[in-house]
Amino acid sequence: MSQTSHDRLLIIDFGSQVTQLIARRLRELNVYCEIHPYQNVTEESLREIAPRAVILSGGPDSVTREGSPRAPQVLFEMGLPVFGICYGQQVMMEQLGGRVEGGHHAEYGRAQVTPAEGHKLDGIFAGLFTETGREQVWMSHGDRVTALAPGFEVVATSPNAPYAMIADEARKFYAVQFHPEVHHTPNGKVMLENFVRMAGFTGDWTMAAYKDEAIRKIREQVGDRKVICGLSGGVDSSVAAVLIHEAIGEQLTCVFVDHGLLRLNEADEVVKMFRDNYNIPLIHADESDLFLGELEGVSDPEEKRKTIGRLFIDVFQKHADSIEGAEFLAQGTLYPDVIESVSFSGGPSVTIKSHHNVGGLPEKMGLKLVEPLRELFKDEVRALGRELGLPDSFIGRHPFPGPGLAIRCPGEITREKLEILRKADAVYIDQIRKHGLYDEIWQAFVAILPVRTVGVMGDGRTYDYACALRAVTSVDGMTADYYPFSHDFLGETATRIINEVKGINRVTYDITSKPPGTIEWE
Ligand code: XMP
Repeated sequence: MSQTSHDRLLIIDFGSQVTQLIARRLRELNVYCEIHPYQNVTEESLREIAPRAVILSGGPDSVTREGSPRAPQVLFEMGLPVFGICYGQQVMMEQLGGRVEGGHHAEYGRAQVTPAEGHKLDGIFAGLFTETGREQVWMSHGDRVTALAPGFEVVATSPNAPYAMIADEARKFYAVQFHPEVHHTPNGKVMLENFVRMAGFTGDWTMAAYKDEAIRKIREQVGDRKVICGLSGGVDSSVAAVLIHEAIGEQLTCVFVDHGLLRLNEADEVVKMFRDNYNIPLIHADESDLFLGELEGVSDPEEKRKTIGRLFIDVFQKHADSIEGAEFLAQGTLYPDVIESVSFSGGPSVTIKSHHNVGGLPEKMGLKLVEPLRELFKDEVRALGRELGLPDSFIGRHPFPGPGLAIRCPGEITREKLEILRKADAVYIDQIRKHGLYDEIWQAFVAILPVRTVGVMGDGRTYDYACALRAVTSVDGMTADYYPFSHDFLGETATRIINEVKGINRVTYDITSKPPGTIEWE
């Protein structure tokens, strides 16, 4: 159980896809919370966790099904404020004497709720319905409450959910049929904020506190054993490595595999950053001949990804074998990586791309995983990186995919094309930095196209490659918009690339959003 001096909020998880988002919203409010699966929450653990308030998450089950998940009954007798969300609302009604019925009116997506007659709209509902008299919310439920438990009253309704928002003010029990934790419920955060303030949280939980907590957990998990960490040079694996190093020092060894598909000077920069700033044992494995050799003649995107993934595992394993006693593999897995394979509305999503990570390793090598960033989003990882003292220039770097330049070089990959691509990319990024746009952009890069076109330079004919510039804005990489550069910027950049990079005589700008495009070209 966690040792923290902070007041804690307990989230009882009934298995919703978005339970972590509740935690995220609470972190934004500087409230310390712990998520515990409902199976682990007993009367004894409740007393041990000693929360100041409890949130019951959503979940896929139906309370009308026999044997479906419940909260310990004693929870409702402890005098704690409780907030039930979706399935959590139904659990409350079921356990407190109301009624829930199976869904002839399943409701998914946006809905409008309006206040019920006569409610004062204060307490946790303060500040709602002030602009338009209604609130947009995100519903995702099959069952619905049909009779309130004694003590509850209706606060707001939607066309399909007569008990969209309900409250028992005397006991400080609140419940909603929708998901206040998702962005599609714009004022959901207001409710959560009102709830935690009403429960007496002062908002003293910070990223510094998160760091200490994460370090304590890593020490607890690893003990005196050893950890290896695959460094990619990206923000996530770097933050994970530095955090773990703070926790267990020399018990951590990092392996940086250079597959020959990195950007200009990238390997040197990453290795230098680590060697100069941290005393972490670091193996720099230059395996470019191996990767580029095996990729020769491969032009299918999935085959490229799979080849790189397979070789990465072989190489990593080779180097990891040289580290005696390693029992753990550290990864910079983020929360969006955890949820990416499953869509919000249920059902696994199709594989668009085989993402490359070291996922194949743990079972093969009998390693256990250390994933200290699993609950965080990219911007939170950056905040944690700052807390750990990583240089700003490093923290703010655009994401770079594991397969590297291979997926920015449609068609066959050759050393010549990679060389041209590296130079063009460096000019493009330099332009973006010079114009002060780097931090506004989620990711920017050049893709070298598998076509050559005719041009004229000076008095001569050229027959060189065309390239595409890509720049997108995004919150989490799941959706993206192309960046609206000015024509002046684009013109100046094209001129610089054509003048400075031998091998390119035509520059295009990719104006596809995601969806329907993806951010990378392959
Ligand atoms: P896509 O191209 O799928 O990319 O829109 C979304 C984000 O993920 C990055 N990306 C990867 N990152 N391994 C990674 O570590 C991969 O195989 C991979 N493929 C794409 C991409 O750069 C963008 O930030």
